[in-house]
Amino acid sequence: MAGRLVGVGRVASDPELGARDLFDFLGGGHLKKRHGKKTHTLFFLETLVLQKKKILHDARFELNELAASRFSKERKMKSVIFLTFLVATCSAVSTCDPGNTFGHPLRSQFLLAANYTNLNHGSYGAVPSSVLQAKEAWLVHIEANSDMWFRYEMFHVLDTLEKTAATFLNADHKSIVFVRNASNGLNAVLRSLLNGVSGFAKKKVLILSEAYQMVKNCLAFLEMEFSQQVVTVNVTYPYDETALLNSVESVFASNPAGTFGFASFSHIVSVPGIILPAKKLVQICKQYGVLAMIDGAHVPGQIALDLTDIGAHIYIGNLHKWMYTPKGSAILYVSEDTQSMIYPSVISEEGQGPSRFKIGFRYEGTDDVTSYMAFPAALQFVTSLGGPTAVMAYTHCLAVQGGQILSTAWNTTTMTTEANMGAMVDVMLPQPQNGTLISTLPTRLLQGEASNGLVTYVPMYSVPYNGQATWFARVSGQVYNDLTDYQRLAEAVVELLGKP
Ligand SMILES: Cc1ncc(COP(=O)(O)O)c(C=O)c1O
Repeated sequence: MAGRLVGVGRVASDPELGARDLFDFLGGGHLKKRHGKKTHTLFFLETLVLQKKKILHDARFELNELAASRFSKERKMKSVIFLTFLVATCSAVSTCDPGNTFGHPLRSQFLLAANYTNLNHGSYGAVPSSVLQAKEAWLVHIEANSDMWFRYEMFHVLDTLEKTAATFLNADHKSIVFVRNASNGLNAVLRSLLNGVSGFAKKKVLILSEAYQMVKNCLAFLEMEFSQQVVTVNVTYPYDETALLNSVESVFASNPAGTFGFASFSHIVSVPGIILPAKKLVQICKQYGVLAMIDGAHVPGQIALDLTDIGAHIYIGNLHKWMYTPKGSAILYVSEDTQSMIYPSVISEEGQGPSRFKIGFRYEGTDDVTSYMAFPAALQFVTSLGGPTAVMAYTHCLAVQGGQILSTAWNTTTMTTEANMGAMVDVMLPQPQNGTLISTLPTRLLQGEASNGLVTYVPMYSVPYNGQATWFARVSGQVYNDLTDYQRLAEAVVELLGKP
């Protein structure tokens, strides 16, 4: 039955989906036997297939009825999840409807295993076959004449790609280079600036407690090697943007001018996937003469990005997470007046280009850079879906409505709000007595232990929320998902938490 519910937002107009199907799904026979409610339920379900507004009204009514009913806990939960799903999909029918463009049929354009539901696009991305084919074509081309490639062609191709990326991100192409991933770009910047002898040696660095672990580890190394001083501003949850901006500003303001030289912030935090006010943070840094770096590992493709508007001195963004390129491709932006201080992670300087910055970053030794070369194919893929705005509207809608399905089913709340989430939603899990039970859930989901057959992975983590250690799940929405994926996750988690 669940399979037939693809795009239940279209329930009102789907002639295939009858009241009887829904009745059976909810266990109508069971209702009749135990409660004599068959007529009422069939009537209710008939109204479901008649009219969207009526669906909302009656599903809400039915939810209240269910809460008061004497059904078994499991039946109640199953019905609540299903009805919540209907409410959410029907509320969102105008934007969250996959239509003919998005949703499960699009899976055939990716390489996802048939039994795998990817609700974790945020961690590693997923590449469409057309984009991977573009990369493969470059690999074949390079092998045909590697001398021609490495000695001449590569630098021209990179030049064109940097210009394409600069247009996409609204940045000056002289400031854009490709790097393998955010970790590479961030390491290059941190280890160039904080090397114990530069002008930053005697100045402090400011980061937030939510910085990605790799950033913290790199800074810990620089603290150990060069006694670089790092100050961490604590971010508390529930998240409060004004409080965060005030905390950062008050740290700068309460120290003598020139105490801080450099600050690093995530644009979208890894967990929870909250969008931070990158532009405002950069403005505060500039006010206090601090060089600002933004870690936008999750940003290109997930939310609209305009580098000129943000105005950071340095910005790093992965393309392999939300921009559909093969793994191993990211962009590094460094403003022209900052470039003289920044060196690549690997010093080779054997590249070609108009500036030392380009020469350094374009060649870090013999390597496979074909993931970068697939960027135009990735852009084409996005265009084929109606362009970035259409893609972001759909994936954002999934996060918002999917979050509602999960939080209602789990009787909890979402950490992220519509305004500060992109395509990832962080939902509070039902809190078990035993934390180990939740920590093993992601693996159990990946092993397909749930009886609805869902095989997925969802990062689950514990953070202080209102001062209490609280478990959350980060769930990503992508063009190949629809709301039934969230519904199945809601059910699977409830079931597995009940079965240690
Ligand atoms: C905020 C943030 N920064 C950096 C990274 C590292 O990205 P990569 O593994 O592609 O280097 C991640 C990865 O998820 C991230 O979430």
